[in-house]
Amino acid sequence: MAEVVILDSPKTIASLAADAVVSLLADKPTAVLGLATGSSPLALYDELVRRHRAGEVSFARAKAFMLDEYVGLSDSHPERYRNVIEREIASRVDFEPGAVAGPDGNAADLKAACAAYEEAIRAAGGIDLQILGIGSDGHIAFNEPSSSLSSRTRIKTLTQQTIADNARFFGGDEAAVPRHVLTQGLGTIMEARHLVLMALGRSKAEAVHQMLEGGVSALWPASIIQFHPHATVLLDTGAASRLQLTSYYRHVYAGKPAWQQL
Ligand code: GLP
Repeated sequence: MAEVVILDSPKTIASLAADAVVSLLADKPTAVLGLATGSSPLALYDELVRRHRAGEVSFARAKAFMLDEYVGLSDSHPERYRNVIEREIASRVDFEPGAVAGPDGNAADLKAACAAYEEAIRAAGGIDLQILGIGSDGHIAFNEPSSSLSSRTRIKTLTQQTIADNARFFGGDEAAVPRHVLTQGLGTIMEARHLVLMALGRSKAEAVHQMLEGGVSALWPASIIQFHPHATVLLDTGAASRLQLTSYYRHVYAGKPAWQQL
């Protein structure tokens, strides 16, 4: 099963996730990271920047791949995921130019862009640590309900729920949220060697419950992580509020040997 860690504050969650990234880069400076957008990883990115400035971690030899991208936002649009990642993390640490890649949502041939993205991930040796959030409808990256559980990078149509959720990044205007996206598939994400998923707040509670404790199903795409050999799920008490086995998760984590990392 996934390791489930329930913590009191977003800050503690960010700090634990940062420990995983920092220790990976200490062991393997050329590691390949998977970067997620959305609000859930923002505190983690701030913490990584802080540790980078303190000289505790370098990304100079690392590479990173983004999970997903909107189709059709202009290159300079602030909500284009490539620009979000640049702003929130890439430009604030010491990645080499060109070390952070994302699917090209403005490619003339979107299908070819998806295939090229899969190939780039493969050529880089695969993703060592994938950071993830979860949508309130149970999506990871932009794999909406009904996604094939073995899907690869491809074009998807957003659900009305995701459009409504993401409108806050577009001045509250649902009409401004693109309908189409490119996203790593569930099969792509499952090949990352370590998944670190963060979820905050009660609006994620049902999706988190279904992901960890429901049946594995295309209706709740994140539930595929039940098949992952090394998945860590970091939750605040709101996101954990519908879980059935809360006391067991707390018991396991409290008894974890000090030498065992996430
Ligand atoms: C977005 C992203 C996902 C993200 C999710 C949750 O649509 N494509 O990668 O995990 O929705 O976002 P947030 O963390 O802001 O709740």
